[in-house]
Amino acid sequence: AEIADRVPLIWLHLAECTGCSESLIRADTPTIDSVIFDHISVEYHETLMAAAGWQAEENLEHALEAYKGGYVLAVEGAVPTANDGHYLTVGCKGHTGMEIVHHAAEGAAAIVSVGTCAAFGGVQAAAPNPTEAKGVDQVVHKPVVNLGGCPPSEKNIVGTLMYFVMFGKLPPLDMYGRPKWAYGARVHDNCERRGRFDAGEFVETFGDEGAKQGYCLYKVGCKGPYTYNNCPTERFNHHTSWPVLAGHGCIGCSEPNFWDAMADFEKP
Ligand code: SF4
Ligand code: SF4
Ligand code: F3S
Repeated sequence: AEIADRVPLIWLHLAECTGCSESLIRADTPTIDSVIFDHISVEYHETLMAAAGWQAEENLEHALEAYKGGYVLAVEGAVPTANDGHYLTVGCKGHTGMEIVHHAAEGAAAIVSVGTCAAFGGVQAAAPNPTEAKGVDQVVHKPVVNLGGCPPSEKNIVGTLMYFVMFGKLPPLDMYGRPKWAYGARVHDNCERRGRFDAGEFVETFGDEGAKQGYCLYKVGCKGPYTYNNCPTERFNHHTSWPVLAGHGCIGCSEPNFWDAMADFEKP
């Protein structure tokens, strides 16, 4: 497809760790190459683009203007709002993350919060939340898709972008703004250790005989029964693994406020 046929994507980094971008580039169905060469035109992404400094800022301004009303805005990271947003400034001109996201949201055809930081504030918003970090949907006045997960899987990111590319609209969402196709079932519902849970076979301490046998991780803190995500069926990194298969319980990373609500992560 020509560039004009591809949906422009502008991806901002706010208060975050770039783990969500790491997840994105592991896409394999379709591959990340196919996503960015055939379906989406990545106009701005600080980790992936070649430009830096003033040139990068010019590219962002140019893309916001050239594709006004037609671009998808993806945001990775929370928006610090305390002290007028000055806990996060980005780029040469000293704009705050809050200013940048407001500006970029204006001309967006769709806004996607990638990861729990952008969706719900994430670790930055953990108590006592000194920077008053917030999810994007709390600071912009437009509909936002929330891709919970720290990070969300590459399938949940690319699947949501591709939904917009194919249908020109956002997918149906749950009460927290998460796409139902990805977050419609509890981790516990599709977990391969669910039979162990039903049989009452539990790991009591990490490294015990039950752990070696693949018993259920509920008693060592698994939050799968309270967490909505498709990790057991879709997995991560080319379908390689997911937390429970790797031997640690789910910590509820796709849920709002999980740092405060789900911790201590190794206790039921
Ligand atoms: Fe990093 Fe997690 Fe935030 Fe993504 S959601 S930027 S992986 S801390
Ligand atoms: Fe449920 Fe977690 Fe046990 Fe899997 S390991 S069955 S998600 S409690
Ligand atoms: Fe997160 Fe739990 Fe999946 S910790 S990655 S929602 S298994």
